[in-house]
Amino acid sequence: MALSGFKRNGVYMPSRSRLTAALSFSVCALLLAGCSIVLEPTSNVAKQSLNQWLPAQPAQRTVDTQNVAVGTTASKTVPNVVAPNGPLPLFQHPDVDCNKEKCVALTFDDGPGRYTERLLNQLKEANVPATFYLLGQNAPIYPKTVQRMVREGHQLGNHTLSHKSLTTLSKTQVSHEVQDSAKKIKKVAGTAPDTMRPPYGARNKDVDSRIDVPLVLWDVDTLDWQHRDPKKTVKIAMNEVSDGSIILMHDIHESSVKAVPNLIKKLKKKGYKLVTVNELFADKKFEGSKTYARRT
Ligand code: NI
Repeated sequence: MALSGFKRNGVYMPSRSRLTAALSFSVCALLLAGCSIVLEPTSNVAKQSLNQWLPAQPAQRTVDTQNVAVGTTASKTVPNVVAPNGPLPLFQHPDVDCNKEKCVALTFDDGPGRYTERLLNQLKEANVPATFYLLGQNAPIYPKTVQRMVREGHQLGNHTLSHKSLTTLSKTQVSHEVQDSAKKIKKVAGTAPDTMRPPYGARNKDVDSRIDVPLVLWDVDTLDWQHRDPKKTVKIAMNEVSDGSIILMHDIHESSVKAVPNLIKKLKKKGYKLVTVNELFADKKFEGSKTYARRT
């Protein structure tokens, strides 16, 4: 029988197979003990199987509400928002009632891209959620970024597979651009996008009828892709924003990402609460095949 270990300096060193067995045993012991360590899933399959073991979300939760102006913090109980396609993100948004407060949704199109992680850092720093209209073809290129978006409570939207103008395509091609994109995003994110934004805002009745989720347009176009100037991006947004606005930007441009911290600061100063698109329409009729450019 071959030795399964060896001695070094008089100390018995177990073989790799024994080490593996010992490690496996430790992991099993931790799991059996009900440890609360949440391992970050690295694959979609792992994420889905992990989700099965996450505890059911309570119907309500307690949140701390901060009144920055007077420096006070209070706790209150609010209903939990259950994501239609999966468990709640780990990041909890501040509770906002857009009926009582001024709300605005930041939206970023055409990514993910090389600057998206930087943008996510900025949003995290500011404690602000956003909605990302992803290109299906880009999602598998940045899987970790997409998974981070979900984990940090941002909303994922569908911006088609390859950014073609849907009004120039046949019905079959429209379905391909929209549905195949949704599948690619779901495969990476573990959750399907539940709203859609047509590239260039190009749509008509035929296009709308092929899309079974709400079509989300915008009412504030920063033209960030055109001028590539952070100051102009902020200026246009602040000039045009109003209660219920949806602001359009593109996270594939560095200049747009650079504009975000200042824009958030100014919006907050004006009393706006920053929410996701779904939060903006939380108490409204928000239906498939219909278009929405702002909360009205
Ligand atoms: Ni676009």
